[in-house]
Amino acid sequence: MTAASELARNTLVHGKGGTLRISEIERDGRFGIKLVFEDTGPGIPDIERALQDGFSTAKSMGLGLGGARRLVNEFDITSTVGVGTRVSIIQWKRR
Ligand SMILES: Nc1ncnc2c1ncn2[C@@H]1O[C@H](COP(=O)(O)OP(=O)(O)OP(=O)(O)O)[C@@H](O)[C@H]1O
Ligand SMILES: [Mg+2]
Repeated sequence: MTAASELARNTLVHGKGGTLRISEIERDGRFGIKLVFEDTGPGIPDIERALQDGFSTAKSMGLGLGGARRLVNEFDITSTVGVGTRVSIIQWKRR
């Protein structure tokens, strides 16, 4: 929930709005939930830097992106300047 809200906030604040797709997934007999946040905002020039704690272009805390990555089982981000940003996360169900 925290990862989802941080990523949603980024989509709105930095990405100027976008979409969230939620799906149930199954892999190797395990079940999980996958969330894909997509926007057509300004994009992120340096993803490694954006993931660092304390880096923010909005004078905020700069903890959302890195914090979200630490909270989930799988984290994937692709971003192109001038095109937009896609962040995909997966959380597997505990057995
Ligand atoms: N969807 C996005 N589109 C464009 N830039 C983004 C996007 N998401 C993150 N960023 C960039 O990455 C930086 C770091 O994001 P992060 O969520 O860690 O911090 P923040 O949103 O600035 O502050 P907060 O701690 O309140 O979340 C942002 O300041 C912004 O420059
Ligand atoms: Mg944020």
